[in-house]
Amino acid sequence: MLEEKILSLNFGKFEKNIHYTISEIKKLGLIRSDENIKYLLDIYDDVTDIELKREVVSSIGRQKDNKKILDFIKNNVYKCGFMDLVYQMYRTCLYKGKTDEEFKILGDEIKKFFNNEVLNKMSDYFNYKQSHVGKKDRVVKYLKPILLQGNNIETLSKIEENSVQLIFTSPPYYNAKIYSNYHSYQDYLEDMFHTLKACHRVLEEGRFIIINVSPVISKRPGREFESIRYPIHFDFHNLLTKAGFYFIDEIQWIKPESSVKNRNGGYQQTHMPLSYKPNCINESIMVYRKYAPFLLDKNIAMYDKTFANDGIFESSNCWYIAPASNKSHPAVFPKELCRRILKYYSFRGDVVLDPFAGSGTFGEVAIEMKRTPILCEKNELYCKLINEGNYYVQL
Ligand SMILES: C[S@@+](CC[C@H](N)C(=O)[O-])C[C@H]1O[C@@H](n2cnc3c(N)ncnc32)[C@H](O)[C@@H]1O
Repeated sequence: MLEEKILSLNFGKFEKNIHYTISEIKKLGLIRSDENIKYLLDIYDDVTDIELKREVVSSIGRQKDNKKILDFIKNNVYKCGFMDLVYQMYRTCLYKGKTDEEFKILGDEIKKFFNNEVLNKMSDYFNYKQSHVGKKDRVVKYLKPILLQGNNIETLSKIEENSVQLIFTSPPYYNAKIYSNYHSYQDYLEDMFHTLKACHRVLEEGRFIIINVSPVISKRPGREFESIRYPIHFDFHNLLTKAGFYFIDEIQWIKPESSVKNRNGGYQQTHMPLSYKPNCINESIMVYRKYAPFLLDKNIAMYDKTFANDGIFESSNCWYIAPASNKSHPAVFPKELCRRILKYYSFRGDVVLDPFAGSGTFGEVAIEMKRTPILCEKNELYCKLINEGNYYVQL
């Protein structure tokens, strides 16, 4: 089919309205010739399917006649109507711009005109790739478990920047438990933001910060007042983004219904619409990445194959895990949750941080799994609990 098309082109005959396939268009792109660019430019106007059109743009970009390619992009980029096509044209400008100033100028114009996150990220990645070659060496900054007693906003300043490979934590859920007493939700969010900024400084580029949080409800000051429900995880998204992390995944930690507070009572009695309140059996596990101008592959490439996990794994984002309890702390992680986070988001030997350590469950599992934990906790009694086994040095 493809040969026929090229042949027919060589004989000057165009077959309009033929059904092109992506692989045919790809092949046309690989053969760099005057005929093919003419053919591809013609196909661009013919095809309406956006996937095909995108492939046509990419194949045009692979051709050698820079004058025709530049004219094509100039004539189409502002009127093509689909951002996917703009990205392909911009990509061509980035690559051709390495040796041709006109493409560089056009690329800068496109980026400035559309000014969006995808183009900005493309440009960051591209520039990083041009200036950094080869594999980065892995440097492990801490070899002993560390306990930082005090407010994490201050204590984290003792930790070197970019020295931590994973952060997993469960912050106070506003004023839900006895260990926190914020004046207002706004104060709480501000404090959380400062902690996240401190976390951002110590985390290595491209690595993960994972936050376990869920909505809470305030106690009613009296029956005549309505309680307030705080969607903490929604607000955390904004805080994380503002601190320099970006969204990767949301895992749902699902608990047995028998283990959570029953909220069905009112509805069960009346069955009146609007009085419905479901039992909340999930908590969010928010997975974010510290911004880096390179792909995750680069982070993974710092470890050799012997660091790979065994073959058993959780295939979905719903993790069914029973909650844990501890007589010394009112809100502890189940060890299984820590195990999974450490297994999927860190490597043996990594430095891992929990800035709101509580009883230190995360640190305990991290040591079992041969990672080096750094724990922050402001409550003196919880710090004593964490260091009962004397595993931690205090900085
Ligand atoms: C939800 S609990 C963490 C429980 C922990 N995941 C565990 O398994 O035990 C939050 C902890 O953060 C501590 N905390 C709150 N604000 C803090 C701050 N600014 N710096 C350090 N610790 C803080 C509280 O004292 C509390 O123990």
